[in-house]
Amino acid sequence: MKAARHGRIGLVPTMGAFHEGHLSLMREARKDCQTLVVSLFVNPTQFAAGEDFSKYPRNELRDAEMADSVGVDVLFAPTTEEMYAGGLTTISVKGVSDRWEGAHRPGHFDGVATIVCKLFNIVEANFAIFGLKDLQQCAVIRRMVVDLNLPIEVRFAPTVREADGLAMSSRNVYLSPEDRVTATLLSRELRTCADSFSQGSLTAGEVERILKDGKSLLESAGFKVDYLNLVDTESLEPKTTPADGDSVIVAARIGPTRLIDNVQLSK
Ligand code: PAJ
Repeated sequence: MKAARHGRIGLVPTMGAFHEGHLSLMREARKDCQTLVVSLFVNPTQFAAGEDFSKYPRNELRDAEMADSVGVDVLFAPTTEEMYAGGLTTISVKGVSDRWEGAHRPGHFDGVATIVCKLFNIVEANFAIFGLKDLQQCAVIRRMVVDLNLPIEVRFAPTVREADGLAMSSRNVYLSPEDRVTATLLSRELRTCADSFSQGSLTAGEVERILKDGKSLLESAGFKVDYLNLVDTESLEPKTTPADGDSVIVAARIGPTRLIDNVQLSK
């Protein structure tokens, strides 16, 4: 990889099983670098016990072809041994990692921060791009880069969705045909909440009511909702009343599949 690098370097970290969301990040990065590096590593340390590490979708050859089709120069796909040869050092971004995904997936963000920091050091890119689909991951990485003075610029790109609104995700392949239909409700309900929140001044009580109704609607459709909340987009701290630019975040299980999504409020 080092031999292939020249000029300005862009990095898109991934765990593979590419879809249009991944490709959109690669296309965005491609516009602004001489060497485009995409990392493909299913990172074991970010999967909590009992999660889908062993059955996470893997198809390196197809991924390599897709990366090629958007002009990726280097597909960096190390083995677990190469990345974690006995290493015990962990990066823990306190505060912003604690709630939401961090609370439901113990150790997840330590795994993410550690692998992303390692990738930054290995690739030595000028910039890296992450998807806002994983809003809390963006906040964790932004914080890590500031706190550790990492010499890289991080950028964030919008969520790519299926025609019916479902946020693209490598995990969508787990959805049964019926669950795939139900899954559409998740983005629709987020939109409904965001639209309500964008309409003028609401009291904390009204906000709570809207979120509670949203949760009930999802649960009656068969979801197990981990959270549906209004948050500050950068800190991920919960908000009681909405302001322009805040986000509504959701995580819910449908059958065996856990989905996350978010939308940002705009006037
Ligand atoms: P992965 O889930 O493969 O996602 C790789 C990148 O694609 C992340 O920045 C993610 O936010 C982005 N992405 C996923 N779905 C998207 C969508 N529908 N629209 C736009 N972007 C989308 O996120 C990870 O891998 C890992 O945690 C990683 C950062 C690589 C560390 O292991």
